[in-house]
Amino acid sequence: MTEKLLEIKKDLSKKLKKDRFEHTIGVMYTAAALAMRYGEDIQKALTAGLLHDCGKYCSAKEQIKLCRKKGISLTDSEIEMPALVHAKLGAYLAEHEYSINDSGILDAITYHTTGRPDMTMLEKIIYIADYIEPNRAEIPGLNEVRFLAFEDIDQAVCRSAGATTRYLQDGGKAVDPMTIRTYNFYKKE
Ligand SMILES: [Fe+2]
Ligand SMILES: [Fe+2]
Repeated sequence: MTEKLLEIKKDLSKKLKKDRFEHTIGVMYTAAALAMRYGEDIQKALTAGLLHDCGKYCSAKEQIKLCRKKGISLTDSEIEMPALVHAKLGAYLAEHEYSINDSGILDAITYHTTGRPDMTMLEKIIYIADYIEPNRAEIPGLNEVRFLAFEDIDQAVCRSAGATTRYLQDGGKAVDPMTIRTYNFYKKE
């Protein structure tokens, strides 16, 4: 791991709650393993994995406040579903506080919760690593997605977007339109 990543890791270990930090490290190394499998840049995968939840260091309310202060535009559905705000805020912080200039890494952070149609390999890797990392609580179908992630990442994306949609709908929660677009795109693939 580079000096810069070690510094970011140290900073996040102080800012994030213990569970969130453990999850972060899980995502970082899972992303690196997927990068090995699919020939993606390992350093980029480590960086995006490490920073993907850096916007989650404060409450959802504070995240929205911070977005307003920094001039980050939020869609209506993002404000309705504050779980998504941390992704946009995270990309902003990665760029402005952690000096990450690679747009591919920043996009992977932005789209890690909802995915989007026709993702880059790095975006798919972070999306899936977030879903399957070893500390994730067992949910039905998780082991299949874990297996598929290393077999056929597009199918793994389709499964996890579908499962996320169902989980939210069953719980009577709103589903972000982008998650549905992601699911529809990869269902057809
Ligand atoms: Fe997240
Ligand atoms: Fe995460």
